[in-house]
This record gives sequence, C-alpha cells and structure tokens, in this order.
Amino acid sequence: MSATPSRRTAILKVDVSAPQTDAIDQAARIIQAGGLVAFPTETVYGLGANALDAAAVDRIFAAKGRPSTDPIIVHLAAQETLPQIAHEIPERAWALAAAFWPGPLTLILQRAAPVPENVSAGRPTIAVRMPSHLVAQALITAAERPVAAPSANRFSRPSATSAQHVIDDLDGRIDLILDGGPTPIGVESTVVDLTTEPPRILRPGGISIEALRPYLPDVQWTPAYLTTDQIAVAPGQMIRHYAPRAELLLFSGSMAAVRAAILDEAGRRSRQGARVGVLTTDEEAPLFAQVIDDVIALGRADDLERIAAGLFAAIRDLDGRGVDAILAHGFGQHGLGAALWDRLLRAAEGRVIAAE
Ligand code: TXA
Ligand code: MG
Repeated sequence: MSATPSRRTAILKVDVSAPQTDAIDQAARIIQAGGLVAFPTETVYGLGANALDAAAVDRIFAAKGRPSTDPIIVHLAAQETLPQIAHEIPERAWALAAAFWPGPLTLILQRAAPVPENVSAGRPTIAVRMPSHLVAQALITAAERPVAAPSANRFSRPSATSAQHVIDDLDGRIDLILDGGPTPIGVESTVVDLTTEPPRILRPGGISIEALRPYLPDVQWTPAYLTTDQIAVAPGQMIRHYAPRAELLLFSGSMAAVRAAILDEAGRRSRQGARVGVLTTDEEAPLFAQVIDDVIALGRADDLERIAAGLFAAIRDLDGRGVDAILAHGFGQHGLGAALWDRLLRAAEGRVIAAE
C-alpha cells in the first residue's frame, strides 16, 4: 500500500456500462486498507483513497508529487452522504446537487469534522462532487467511504484521460488502475465556491458557466492565475499546471490572424531546426498540415465536446513525439470554451500571443 516506485501497479479492465463486481470489490478493498486506486470518472481519471484516512490521503500527495498546500476533491456515490463530510450546507448547494449531480460539478462547502485536515490542505472547507461514471459510482459504493481523488497525473502534468496516461505518470507508485477506457468529457469538473458571497467559480470545467447561471445568478468568474508560491492563497488557480514538456504557445485573435501567426511562428522555429506541433480544429488542420508534420485535429470548431474529450491526450501525444513547441489557439469562451481556454492558458504558463 505504499507509494514507493518499486511496487508494481495492477491494472484491471472494467466494463463501463456494467462494471465487474470482482474488479470493483478488489479496488474497494484496497481503498479500505488505505491504498491508492486510479479509476475513470466522466471527466478525467481520479487517484482515489479513503477520504477519512489521513495516512491514505498523504499517500495521494506522495504518489503525485503534489504540494500538501493543494486541497483534494472528495467524491460521493449518494447525495444523502453529503452531511457526513460537509456542514452548514446552504440551500443553493442542494439545488445545484439536484440539478447537476451526478456530474462534473464540484462544490466548495464547510468541512465537517470526520474529514481529516490534509484533504483540504488545512482549510475549513471541503470540495465535493458526485461523479456520474458508473465505475466511479460502483467503486465509491463498494468502498462504503467517501473517496478523495485528485486527477491521476503527476503534479503539473496534463490530466490523465486514459489508463495508459495513468501508467505513464504513476506506474509503480499506486496499487491499482481500473481501466474503463477513455473518459468521455476530458476536462475536469467545474469548481464553485459556495462559502463566499457572492459564490465564485474557481475553475471552469465540464458544467458551463451559462448552465450554472439560472441557479447562481450572482456567480463570479474572474480568471486569476497565480504562480506556485501563491497557491496557499488560492488553490487551484496555479498557472504552472497541465504543463507539457514542450513549450506551449497560445495564440489569440481572429482565426485569420491566428492562422497567419501560427504559420509564421512554425516556419521560423522549423528553420531554426525545432520540431513544432499544432493543436487545432478539423477545419484548420489541412492548411497547417501542408507545412507542419505534427498537426492534431481535435474536432470541428462547433463541436467543443469532441475537442475537450481529446485535448489532454493530444498534448500528451505531441509531447510523446518529442516536439519542442506546441502551437495552439482557443475555441471561444462559451460553454466548454471557457474550460478549454483555461487549460490551454495554464499549459502556456499564462503567456498569450496576440495575433493581429
Ligand atoms: O473532474 C475532476 O474534478 C477530477 C476528477 C478526478 O473528479 N478531479 C480533479 O481534481 O480535477 P484535482 O485535484 O486535479 O483538482 C481539484 C481542484 C484543484 O484546483 C484544487 O485546488 C481545488 O479543486 N480544490 C479542492 N479543494 C478545495 C478547497 N477546499 N477550496 C478551494 N479549492 C479546492
Ligand atoms: Mg489536477
């Protein structure tokens, strides 16, 4: 049950629509014994441990190389169990849970006593969500405990959206991976802080800001990105996050201007002997592919679901090919566009190139 790299990590394939009981039971026993299990959720793979066991939670931080100042989301299988981990639950939390759970919405509430402090990095609050993925639900139900789970990647790496990504980052550092294939949404949950007035979005994600508005008309979304030293002040808003090994250059502006700027930059870097990758839409890809070898078409420009589902895998793919730089552009700010921009901006460490 340790997070030392010498141990081997077991992998069990599970059927996403009807998870096998024996695999789920094996995983649940590991959680109950204080071990670490990576499992698929509808957003990304999570790295799960018993949320009520401080030593197990410490193993999550150790396996990921995550600073202990960055708090972890607790996952439930049933709304009724919320009062076990949160107290002073406001009415609007129940309304949001009724509307969006199970699903990719994380609520920040007041932490209840049974939850050890390290889960929330010493804060009086707790992040909680109820995933809709059947494997996640089956695991949490069988474990009979709330499951603390950050994304199952090494700290600062892009989140894992397949079992292979988890192996690439955490093999030998965790006990088991439940392999349920690629995760459908591909970006993490939306995090909303209900302990502040007005409530604030801390991370845009799988539930759009537009979808939250009817329930939280006054919700604030002011993107603030901080460096690693400042995360104790505002967790989850770190700028050095999702970082590929390659440098990621994020372009903004009209599509015509961005297209010209990317071609220009790719040409300049190629002439200097660098290998360049491009992340773009199906519509733009053929044009880039005429002059750049490593072009990934994420989906049609109007199909943000498809683009989100493939984003982290594409960044990892280009990294794996050994490109020196990844040139990318945003996909608007509506719906999943806000989450996509947020992840790209963090991967770019906050630097945006304005194309004119
Ligand atoms: O979709 C998801 O949310 C995935 C899956 C596995 O559920 N989990 C995930 O966890 O993305 P993680 O640890 O990679 O991101 C959790 C985010 C971090 O930005 C963290 O700082 C923030 O939630 N967070 C957790 N607890 C918090 C708290 N008490 N107050 C403020 N932010 C918190
Ligand atoms: Mg993460």
